[in-house]
Amino acid sequence: MSPIRFEQGRLLLIDQRVLPAQQVWIACANAVETADAIRDMVVRGAPAIGVTAAYGVALEACVAVHDPAFSRRMQQACRRLMDARPTAVNLRWAVEKQQGLMQAMATASTSEIAAALLQAAHGMHADDIALNRRLGFHGQALLADGARVLTHCNAGALACAGYGTALGVLRAAVEAGKRLSVFADETRPFLQGARLTAWELMQDGIDVTLITDNMAGHLMSRGEIDAIVVGTDRVTANGDVVNKIGTYMVAVLARRHGIPFYVACPLSTLDLRTATGADVPIEERSAQEVTGHAGVVWAPAGVKVRNPAFDVTPAELVSGLITEAGVIHEPAGVDLKQWFEAQGAHGEQQ
Ligand code: MRU
Repeated sequence: MSPIRFEQGRLLLIDQRVLPAQQVWIACANAVETADAIRDMVVRGAPAIGVTAAYGVALEACVAVHDPAFSRRMQQACRRLMDARPTAVNLRWAVEKQQGLMQAMATASTSEIAAALLQAAHGMHADDIALNRRLGFHGQALLADGARVLTHCNAGALACAGYGTALGVLRAAVEAGKRLSVFADETRPFLQGARLTAWELMQDGIDVTLITDNMAGHLMSRGEIDAIVVGTDRVTANGDVVNKIGTYMVAVLARRHGIPFYVACPLSTLDLRTATGADVPIEERSAQEVTGHAGVVWAPAGVKVRNPAFDVTPAELVSGLITEAGVIHEPAGVDLKQWFEAQGAHGEQQ
């Protein structure tokens, strides 16, 4: 399952706003349409929006090959894509990779640059799936046969180019022959857990039980959860984890009940340039996401609303960061910069 396809010169994205009720694919032909699709959550999830943005840069180059202002237009396109959503660092990571490629090809023709950007986007798409499998392999070793695992939001195939990070860990455990029971938090207000995680796991025949977000503490207190595995939009240099709103609450509850709290974190999601979670811009989304859903409004007209889309889980609450290069146990006590340099991965992600 991949939420992203490239066919006949067009980028196709499955519209995640209407899943699972409808399966509709939306086409993007240039950077503006691609940035709109990212901002409006047609496509969402940190790795997926990174790969999508890389395609957006390539599409813009393809339509601009005869534009005398090619370079300026490409700079504007990159800025627009990077600004589509502020929190997930993968967006910046992917666009900067494309900008680096353009810089390296400064003397090439515009059509050569466009072809190379498209090739690079295809490469990121394929690499993301491969790295998720490696990440899943490392992560599944942390889960026992019979484990009951809670996840929050959707860090699955739908949030990546395929396979998933947190759900990739669960898939890998099942592929290794372990029996898992997964609990999916509903994930208010956008309902990624109810609409996407529950659907994705059911498609794969993985046992999943849907709960509302406020039920997680009760299940933990009754000894019904053995481990938590979530994804992330950005892990800062000190190991703080920025992820979907509500993740912090889950992590605090997990610590209270002595349950391990794992974060699936591809290297492209590590932001060593940012010191702590407090320095990360947290996206605030529209009030309509909180006051109702799908045309139904349940809050009084005019009520004041806050809608931060992400929160910060301090590193001290994280039992392990699961990466494609291995697991970093208790990241609060680890120098992440040094760790990644030791993996030979630093140049790749910075
Ligand atoms: O607002 P979203 O749906 O883009 O938020 C997604 C998440 O918070 C995911 O947990 C995160 O991006 C990791 S996806 C592998």
